[in-house]
Amino acid sequence: MDDKTSNGDSRETVNSRPQFGTRNLPSDGNIFQHNAWDNVTWDEEQEKLAQRKVNENSIVTVSSEQLLKYETEADKYWDKFYGVHNDGFFKNRHWLLTEFPELAPDIVKQNTERPMRAALADQDKNHGDRYIKILDLPCKDGCRILEIGCGVGNTVFPILTYNVDPKLFVYCCDFSTKAIDILQQNPAYNVDRCKAFVLDVTQETWTTPFEPESLDIVVLIFVLSAIHPDKMQHVVRQIHRYLKPGGIVLFRDYGRYDLAQLRFKKGNCLGGNFYARGDGTRVYFFLQEDVKTLFTDNGFTEEQNFADRRLQVNRGKQLSMYRVWIQAKYRKIFA
Ligand SMILES: C[S@@+](CC[C@H](N)C(=O)[O-])C[C@H]1O[C@@H](n2cnc3c(N)ncnc32)[C@H](O)[C@@H]1O
Repeated sequence: MDDKTSNGDSRETVNSRPQFGTRNLPSDGNIFQHNAWDNVTWDEEQEKLAQRKVNENSIVTVSSEQLLKYETEADKYWDKFYGVHNDGFFKNRHWLLTEFPELAPDIVKQNTERPMRAALADQDKNHGDRYIKILDLPCKDGCRILEIGCGVGNTVFPILTYNVDPKLFVYCCDFSTKAIDILQQNPAYNVDRCKAFVLDVTQETWTTPFEPESLDIVVLIFVLSAIHPDKMQHVVRQIHRYLKPGGIVLFRDYGRYDLAQLRFKKGNCLGGNFYARGDGTRVYFFLQEDVKTLFTDNGFTEEQNFADRRLQVNRGKQLSMYRVWIQAKYRKIFA
C-alpha cells in the first residue's frame, strides 16, 4: 500500500469532520494556505504529464509465472498484509456517511451539532455532478447490507455505530481469513447485527449466509481495484444475483492518474493500469467509463458517477499531491 492516507482516510470522526467536499481553491488562491482542496480541475498540461508518467511505468517486465502467482496467491498476499498491519492501516472513514448517507439514513437525528442533510444540500447547490445524491432504498423490514472486501471492518463498524435501525443486518466478507479473524475479535463485532465470513468473490459460485435477491445494498470500497480486471465482470454479475430488484451498489475506488498510480516505478505494472505493490497486493486505476460499462452492461442503471479530484498539500515540505477517486451509485434494474 502506498501510504496511510491512500484512500483519503484520517483519524477524524463523523462529527469533527471539516468542510469535506466544500474546500474549493480560488483561481488566484495560495494552495499552501490549507492542507487539502476539493473539486480540483486539471488542465491539459497536467493531464499530459500524468499520461507521460503512466506510459513510463506501464512497461510490463513481470514474468508470466509471477503474474500467475499474484493471481493464485492473492489471498495470501492480503493475509500477510493484515498479519503485518493488523487493524492499524486503514483509518476511520470520515467521508463514509457523508458520501453514502444511505448507510445510516437516520444519522441526521444524532448529528445535531452539524445537521448532515443541511450540509449536503449546500453541496448540491455548489458542485454540479459532484453533489451527494441520496438514493431511495428498497428496504422493507430492516436493511440488509453486504460489504465485499471488508478488511478489518473500517466501513462495517461505522455503519453499525451510526445506523440506529434495530432491524439492520450487515454481512461482510473478505478472502483474507486473517482480516476476518481480526474483524471478529473487535469488541464492536455484534453477531446479532453482523455476520463476517470468508469468501473469494472471484469464485464461480458463492457460498453465502443469505439467499439470492435478498440484499438491499452492496458496498464496494477500494475492493474491485484489488481484483484482476478480467474477473470484475463476474463479480458484478454475482452482486446482481444477490441484490433485490431495486437494490443499490455504493462504489468508491482509485481513479486514473491518482498519485498512487503515478508513484509506481517501472517493473510494477501487470498490464493495463493494473499494478502490484511491493507487498504483492494489486491495484487497478479506474476511468469513470470503466465503472459505467461494468455495471450498465450487467443489469444496473447508473444513478451517479463522478471523479472526486482532490489536492492534498504538505505545507511543511511545500509538496502538492493530486488524488483521484471514482465514486458511483448503481441500481439493479427492476425485472
Ligand atoms: C484496499 S483493501 C480495502 C478494505 C476495505 N474495503 C476498506 O476500505 O477498509 C481491499 C480488500 O479487498 C479484499 N479482497 C481483494 N480481493 C478479494 C476477493 N477476490 N474476494 C474477497 N475479498 C477480496 C482484500 O483482502 C482487502 O481486504
